[in-house]
Amino acid sequence: MSRRTNIVIVGGGLAGMAAAIEALRQTRHTAGITIELLEKEAHTGGNSAKASSGISGVLTRTQKNLGINDSIDAFFQDTIKSGRGRSNETLVQRLASESASAVFWLQNDFALDLDVIAQLGGHSFPRTHRRPDANGKPQPVGWGIVSALDKHLKEQAKKNGSCFRLTTGARVTKLLSTAGGRVSGIFYESIDPSTNTVVRHRCKCDVVVLATGGFGGEGGNPNFLKKYAPQLVGLPATNGPFAAGDGLRLATAVGAGLVDMDQIQVHPTGFVQARDPGNPTKFLAAEALRGEGGILLNGLGKRFVDELGTRDRVTTAITKYCSDENTRARYTSSDKPSNVTYVEPSTAAAYLVLSQPVADSFGHGGLGFYEKMGLMNKASSVEELATAIRVELTTLNQTLTDYDKAREGRINDEFGKTAFPQSMLSKGGSGDESFYFWCIVTPSIHYTMGGLRFDENARVLASSGGQPIPGLLAAGEVTGGLHGANRLGGNSLLECIVYGRRAGRQAAAEAIEHLL
Ligand SMILES: Cc1cc2nc3c(=O)[nH]c(=O)nc-3n(C[C@H](O)[C@H](O)[C@H](O)COP(=O)(O)OP(=O)(O)OC[C@H]3O[C@@H](n4cnc5c(N)ncnc54)[C@H](O)[C@@H]3O)c2cc1C
Ligand SMILES: *[C@@H]1O[C@H](CO)[C@@H](O)[C@H](O)[C@H]1NC(C)=O
Ligand SMILES: *[C@@H]1O[C@H](CO)[C@@H](O)[C@H](O)[C@H]1NC(C)=O
Ligand SMILES: *[C@@H]1O[C@H](CO)[C@@H](O)[C@H](O)[C@H]1NC(C)=O
Ligand SMILES: *[C@@H]1O[C@H](CO)[C@@H](O)[C@H](O)[C@H]1NC(C)=O
Repeated sequence: MSRRTNIVIVGGGLAGMAAAIEALRQTRHTAGITIELLEKEAHTGGNSAKASSGISGVLTRTQKNLGINDSIDAFFQDTIKSGRGRSNETLVQRLASESASAVFWLQNDFALDLDVIAQLGGHSFPRTHRRPDANGKPQPVGWGIVSALDKHLKEQAKKNGSCFRLTTGARVTKLLSTAGGRVSGIFYESIDPSTNTVVRHRCKCDVVVLATGGFGGEGGNPNFLKKYAPQLVGLPATNGPFAAGDGLRLATAVGAGLVDMDQIQVHPTGFVQARDPGNPTKFLAAEALRGEGGILLNGLGKRFVDELGTRDRVTTAITKYCSDENTRARYTSSDKPSNVTYVEPSTAAAYLVLSQPVADSFGHGGLGFYEKMGLMNKASSVEELATAIRVELTTLNQTLTDYDKAREGRINDEFGKTAFPQSMLSKGGSGDESFYFWCIVTPSIHYTMGGLRFDENARVLASSGGQPIPGLLAAGEVTGGLHGANRLGGNSLLECIVYGRRAGRQAAAEAIEHLL
């Protein structure tokens, strides 16, 4: 089957949806321009739907309301520092300076209540926006955002005479290009449900936007991982298996350049579930758990790192200080259901502990959800916590006391922590008894910083010469060069909107030019 459309967007995560919405807006006064979004899964959302900590932004309405004196420059500096000399400054500048309008876009055009802010690791101010609980129920931020955008796009597609089409179950397998090197179309495959056979489609177009996400979900078939970061093969991952680097294969086949492919973020806190500790796919323990003041302990009940350090530092610390028999966090036999074979995780693991005030500010909706999933446990006192995590009470008490002393400025923190969101020993507002939440976390592959070389207008750059490949744009995790050696929490959803919308605008401009 063969047809023609003007703009093809590949991938229905946040970057692809943002690109589609912006392309539609930019072309709404131009008759005859058609746009198609193709998603290989049965539903849109991708890894974007899993995001739980939030979206970064400075000078936002929410920051202003909360009196947070942040700046574009502070955000820029934090991001550059985190990237350790690898990030492209032009790309970071765009990200920081367009962050307020990205958050505003979600709040204003899609009525998303991104009114809760946390300070995540490596950020010097609270600037990562998420959603408050509603009626005691969590409103996961990524899910909320992609649902709102998906609804909007489906309404657009349904309109009479719509120039927009959203096709799920459509896997793009190849890019077509002209003899002159311009990308001119795609091949994709879908399954015909009546015969259960693969149908191949060919679609010519003016512009392709790749928004296929990263390769952190390669799992049992680790092609890129094996090639660029063999030391990580075998670690669990937080990504869905659809994040398999498709866009990288599609684009390099037409000459696109790659950058920083070996820069892979291992998130320090994938949940180890008591009833399935060896599962290679980990549910993510939201960074906001530490952002709101959760602390990390080794198997002896001692802290070993600034919990608000960047992810790579926290991961390195867990790997270094929580991996031998004594220092690794473990469940006791009473935590483990007797009817399953228990496989001790072979990787390093730490305890993540929340005091009552931390739990109150994180939100009990989200914690209740984790509890129900068997990921988070509750202890009703310091004594009970010590027993549950099998550490000496005096050691644990000392750890918590020292933490609070450092928080009050009475001693210097041994690990250089400077922001202490909450106390570990005082009670919060939600009850008379102080209680604790605890869980076990392990480093898990989370985000691939590397990817397609691109410029500030989302144009994909060629491997030789570095010039834009005509007709090929990209946005989101499929791109590389923005986050350098380490991505800060909240910066990825932001990148999807800033560069997704830029890709949409650029695609619209190129498609309109084609009409002439
Ligand atoms: C558990 C988890 C929590 C996270 N939390 C946060 C957070 O709080 N804040 C933050 O900023 N970032 C967070 N991130 C990172 C962030 O969610 C992702 O990096 C970002 O959403 C990627 O968006 P994307 O649109 O580029 O890709 P995705 O959202 O992954 O979407 C890509 C889509 O492309 C589709 N696709 C792939 N190949 C093809 C093909 N060949 N043909 C058609 N379709 C294809 C996929 O099926 C997928 O739906 C988190 C990530 C994970 C895994
Ligand atoms: C905000 O920060 C800037 C520079 O970081 C400083 O000059 C200014 O006085 C601060 N304002 C407030 C209200 O704290
Ligand atoms: C759609 O638009 C066409 C003309 O543009 C019109 O003939 C048709 O009745 C419309 N259909 C609906 C359902 O509104
Ligand atoms: C913790 O230590 C302090 C003094 O160091 C002591 O007053 C307190 O009772 C101890 N608490 C527990 C639960 O052991
Ligand atoms: C950063 O990217 C821009 C294109 O957006 C490019 O012009 C510039 O040369 C790049 N800078 C570096 C240091 O690579």
